[in-house]
Amino acid sequence: MTTLRLVLGDITRQRADAIVNAANSSLLGGGGVDGAIHRRGGPAILEACRALRASSYGRGLATGHAVATPAGRLDALWVIHTVGPVWQGPDSDPAPLVSCYRESLRVADELGARTVAFPAISTGVYRWPMADAAAIAVESVRLTPTEVEEVRFVVFDEGAYGAYSGVLGEVTGG
Ligand code: APR
Repeated sequence: MTTLRLVLGDITRQRADAIVNAANSSLLGGGGVDGAIHRRGGPAILEACRALRASSYGRGLATGHAVATPAGRLDALWVIHTVGPVWQGPDSDPAPLVSCYRESLRVADELGARTVAFPAISTGVYRWPMADAAAIAVESVRLTPTEVEEVRFVVFDEGAYGAYSGVLGEVTGG
């Protein structure tokens, strides 16, 4: 049984077995969560990402996929990098965003991670509307069989917190 929790704060300050990064396909850093994770996690994360690009991820990480690296100076064992879809408007296909959560949990299971912290993937630079992204995030995790014991949704502002708590309230019947 996986416990779902909601936290308002900086995901790079979370203590968890795995922290999920809202990356881009280059795996070579960026802004937002990506920038914060590399800043606080230090160069070891980028070095590991570069090694992935030089080996099995020569063309980068595809949207909806996930791959783990060590977590450098973060209070975590691993960073699970995943690439969310860019919102293309009301008929945007949610499947790649669902896949980010499912694939990140699959990678977490491969690692034996028991606690996983997720940001609100695709809701920043990739412009996915928060309410819809929160529903997709919670529903995807709830419906994915996993050994992960705690999934923490770590959001950065009150608006996101309200969106997630609304959905989680529905889910937990609270
Ligand atoms: N902790 C938790 N949440 C954060 C943090 C943080 N330190 N920084 C930003 N966020 C929130 C944003 O407010 C947003 O709601 O994370 C959500 C995702 O925003 P982005 O980081 O912009 O990620 P995304 O929308 O998936 O875009 C990915 O942005 O940073 C680049 O390299 C990244 O190209 C990629 C793209």
